[in-house]
Amino acid sequence: MESNLFDLSGKTALVTGGSRGIGYAIAEAFARQGANVALVARTARQVMEAANSIERRTGRRTWSFVFNLENCDGAEVLFGKVAEETGGIDILVNCAGTTVRGPSEDIDLKDWQRVQDVNLKSAFALSQAFCRGRKQSGAGGSIINIGSLACQGARPTIAAYSASKGGLLMLTKTLAVEWAKYGITVNAIGPGYIETELTAPLLADADFNEWVLSKTPLKRWGRPGDLVGTAILLASKAGQFITGQIVYVDGGWLALL
Ligand SMILES: NC(=O)c1ccc[n+]([C@@H]2O[C@H](COP(=O)([O-])OP(=O)(O)OC[C@H]3O[C@@H](n4cnc5c(N)ncnc54)[C@H](OP(=O)(O)O)[C@@H]3O)[C@@H](O)[C@H]2O)c1
Repeated sequence: MESNLFDLSGKTALVTGGSRGIGYAIAEAFARQGANVALVARTARQVMEAANSIERRTGRRTWSFVFNLENCDGAEVLFGKVAEETGGIDILVNCAGTTVRGPSEDIDLKDWQRVQDVNLKSAFALSQAFCRGRKQSGAGGSIINIGSLACQGARPTIAAYSASKGGLLMLTKTLAVEWAKYGITVNAIGPGYIETELTAPLLADADFNEWVLSKTPLKRWGRPGDLVGTAILLASKAGQFITGQIVYVDGGWLALL
């Protein structure tokens, strides 16, 4: 058995939403395993600082790109630019995500569409661009989509988010079976409730916090660092025969009756 199954040296990863939260943790972990990393987000200063911080801490090469993934039609051009500047992308992590909360009957269709565009359509557009490049080079590769407990179960007031994440799971399976012939693995990670900026309003809500703890056998919120082991597995040689799967990293949430 090889001793360096989790090594990512010589690889370059593109992580959308890599400027903070879960995306940042995954990007930094990949760099610690030897990968160079490119980050995409909207806020220029934050994404640049994130890239600099990873470079300082790990000594790997990093790049930052400012892009709004609501602009799905521009995703292919973005990917081309990233691939050109970095010399090619071996691992794509579709992590950028957004939500809108409220009673389903009151959700504005523009907000619904924004959530689909960022969480699902852009992930597809970037995956298409990634596949075209990998198909040409014959080098294979890994796509990791960041799903959610909403890939599996429903909760009131997050219809747009749930629809996008449910779609992302079926997209993961479809691309896995379709692109296996190119040596591309496609998987998803389903985080439980993780402490980040996205969930800050939920964590601050005492009733919601109590509900989360009551549903989580490990009795705490997750941290972004809890997800990085699974991401490394799915991006590395250790996971090369895993495709079309979602791995829930949820403190036991979905196992509880
Ligand atoms: N936290 C949780 O409990 C949890 C649970 C399950 C799944 N997830 C999923 O995990 C992923 C990351 O969530 P997180 O909690 O780490 O969120 P976060 O802390 O809010 O980070 C979101 C990241 O996505 C970027 N982003 C948001 N909208 C974007 C857009 N339109 N274009 C480009 N980049 C955009 C953000 O940067 P800018 O704002 O600068 O663009 C940031 O880098 C999401 O897909 C989320 O659905 C999170």
